[in-house]
Amino acid sequence: MQNKTIIICLIISQLLVSVFSSAGGQANCTGVAAGTDCASVCGVPTVAGTGTTACSWVSSSTLTTCTVTDCTCLTTGTVTGITNLNDQFCTSCKGSTSNTYANGAGTACVAASASCNSTIRGTTAWTVGDCTVCTPTTPALVGSTCKACNTISSAWTDANCAACASTSTPKGNTNFANSAGTACVNASATCASGSRGTTAANAWTVADCLACTPATPVFVPAASPAVTTSCVACSAATSGLNDALCNACASSASPAAKTTFANTAGSACVASSATCTAGSRGTTAANAWTAADCLACTPATPAVQFGASPATTSSCVACNTINSGWTDANCNSCAMLLALKQKISSLRLMEVLVQQLCFHALNLLEVQINGLMQTVPPAMVLLLMQINMPLLMVLHVKLHRLLVLSVVRSLLAFYQFYLLCQFDYSSFKQKFRIQNCTF
Ligand SMILES: *[C@@H]1O[C@H](CO)[C@@H](O)[C@H](O)[C@H]1NC(C)=O
Ligand SMILES: *[C@@H]1O[C@H](CO)[C@@H](O)[C@H](O)[C@H]1NC(C)=O
Ligand SMILES: *[C@@H]1O[C@H](CO)[C@@H](O)[C@H](O)[C@H]1NC(C)=O
Repeated sequence: MQNKTIIICLIISQLLVSVFSSAGGQANCTGVAAGTDCASVCGVPTVAGTGTTACSWVSSSTLTTCTVTDCTCLTTGTVTGITNLNDQFCTSCKGSTSNTYANGAGTACVAASASCNSTIRGTTAWTVGDCTVCTPTTPALVGSTCKACNTISSAWTDANCAACASTSTPKGNTNFANSAGTACVNASATCASGSRGTTAANAWTVADCLACTPATPVFVPAASPAVTTSCVACSAATSGLNDALCNACASSASPAAKTTFANTAGSACVASSATCTAGSRGTTAANAWTAADCLACTPATPAVQFGASPATTSSCVACNTINSGWTDANCNSCAMLLALKQKISSLRLMEVLVQQLCFHALNLLEVQINGLMQTVPPAMVLLLMQINMPLLMVLHVKLHRLLVLSVVRSLLAFYQFYLLCQFDYSSFKQKFRIQNCTF
């Protein structure tokens, strides 16, 4: 029992020796030659704190290299700061590490590839890695100079991005330069197009397309059996679009595009005033649908209808579900849909026409449809035409109230209507026929 205690004590004392006393390895100090006192030429760091011990070199009158007396002088007690570290002290105390050089501030030993001191480094080229460990406040390398990250706005490289991410507080994850080199992004691998998308191992990902190439943010998966993946522009995508992708496409366009939201089907980017995401619209007055947004987001239901209870809700509805309370906005939206469906080239003129008709929506038109006279708002005429595929339909429209209008734009609109449809002039004064419309 006593023997065991002695052995344990011996082990502990050995441990204490190895922890509390650690002679440095050999280092060359400029000017040291046989007979020179190491302490006078090697330089010692200053260690601040409580319970710290001064650092020193072994005094020698014969050696041509020097050794630090006890490297634990850097760690003993509560160290609050180290200054004036130099390369020779770090070399002596590096132990099994590669921390051979003092950093630029002389506060720590770092694993640089050459001295952090430009004078000593001489013509040895700087590397990004050395900039990062030597001068963390200027961790990036531009040309031959270590630079602060916030001074770089173009020509970002992966190495500089990684350097800046590693030295930011807190540590960042934007380790790769985007394809344009204009920013560092949180990609899973390099954005360099030549190194991506050619094999399964370097395949593009949904997130990486968005992060790396904002102008072409849509991921195109590999078509089996080919392994090539790619990133394409929003305009080339017909499905899978979302607000993030559309926003990336729109903001990277020059000038910036207004199509910042994905339509509800995710098939196109549209110039909605807010997201088309159904759950985020129509629930309050603040996020109410507008007719224009309904048309953009859900073209099949391009009109807006406000809820009766609660009145703050709104929804997009199909034009043929509206029987009363037509608004100019809904008329316009429905007419635009009609125009889109019929692929009318002069969209703007069609718009003017319908706006004018809707403006006088209270002036009901008498329309004869398949021999039956009906009184309907003008917008309904257009909708009926849309629904019934108007090419063979003959409408007798009583337009006397509209003809009273002397507004030039109305006449222009009517002229366009005339161009699109065949008018029967013979009965122009009271009634006239519209037939064979080619909307
Ligand atoms: C010290 O200098 C000598 C001669 O230049 C060199 O051979 C030796 O490797 C150096 N030692 C260290 C630890 O740098
Ligand atoms: C860099 O090295 C030179 C030459 O040894 C020395 O005079 C100078 O003080 C060092 N600079 C720093 C910042 O340590
Ligand atoms: C960074 O990207 C990864 C996926 O590549 C993702 O899991 C992570 O949330 C992203 N981090 C941030 C802060 O965006």
